[in-house]
Amino acid sequence: MSLRSVVPAGVLVEESRQDLTTTVFPAEEAGIAGAVPSRRAEFATTRLCARRALARLGFVASAIPVGPSRQPLLPPGIVGSLTHCDGYRGSALCRAQVVPALGVDVEPCRQLPADLRPVVARSDELTGPASTGPDDLDPALLLFSIKESVYKAWNPITGRWLGFHDVRVRTRWRGRRSGDFRADVLIARSAEPAGFDGRFAVQDALLFTAAWSTGGMATLCSTLSHSMSQTGYRAAAR
Ligand SMILES: CC(C)(COP(=O)(O)OP(=O)(O)OC[C@H]1O[C@@H](n2cnc3c(N)ncnc32)[C@H](O)[C@@H]1OP(=O)(O)O)[C@@H](O)C(=O)NCCC(=O)NCCS
Repeated sequence: MSLRSVVPAGVLVEESRQDLTTTVFPAEEAGIAGAVPSRRAEFATTRLCARRALARLGFVASAIPVGPSRQPLLPPGIVGSLTHCDGYRGSALCRAQVVPALGVDVEPCRQLPADLRPVVARSDELTGPASTGPDDLDPALLLFSIKESVYKAWNPITGRWLGFHDVRVRTRWRGRRSGDFRADVLIARSAEPAGFDGRFAVQDALLFTAAWSTGGMATLCSTLSHSMSQTGYRAAAR
């Protein structure tokens, strides 16, 4: 099992359990300036994963600069998301026709500190189905990861910040180790996606989550126009 088990059909996943030998492209340097070697290696490996997915989609290897909200600036018409944590680096990308927005997150299974639980979870989210998962998964960590995935799908479309309490999540377990969810964005404006679907799975002490918009044409148009209005993938990538 991997990120592949949680993304929609048609999304290309590339991943690695360790850092790989690769380089940071010149147009990416500004986004990683001053970082320690381990952070550079994580950044470069995750981008190598994304370039492998882009190659499968027909793109030549080029930079994936860091955008103004720190989002990865992908080629026009491509949506997707990068994630890394101890022991995992990965990317999930597709053409915008597959899904108009996609976010992914991977977290080592751990207890979220008690003081973070009310920060991450709305009052009704840690009761009922959200708390019926396996013993080795903290339900608050599941909510945290789902909301991170939602943010990574939401922010590149809208350019807007989301707080944890701006999203209400309902999870449904589909067996011992995986399930699906619906996330409603409570502050969505009329042209913005108000809901995301997603899946989650637990394996090898890692939690995988993916969130995607099922919005219609308005969302798709908004995705393309916003991503093309960013600092400019093509200009920055040269
Ligand atoms: C951006 C954020 C979601 C990253 O999550 P994380 O668990 O810390 O880290 P991950 O390894 O899973 O993901 C990091 C990658 O996310 C991507 N990312 C960063 N900002 C992003 C954004 N605004 N939109 C989409 N992707 C983004 C980057 O590719 C980054 O990797 P890189 O810096 O090497 O390029 C998190 O740091 C953050 O800023 N959260 C605040 C917003 C939020 O979560 N609100 C509540 C949710 S409702």
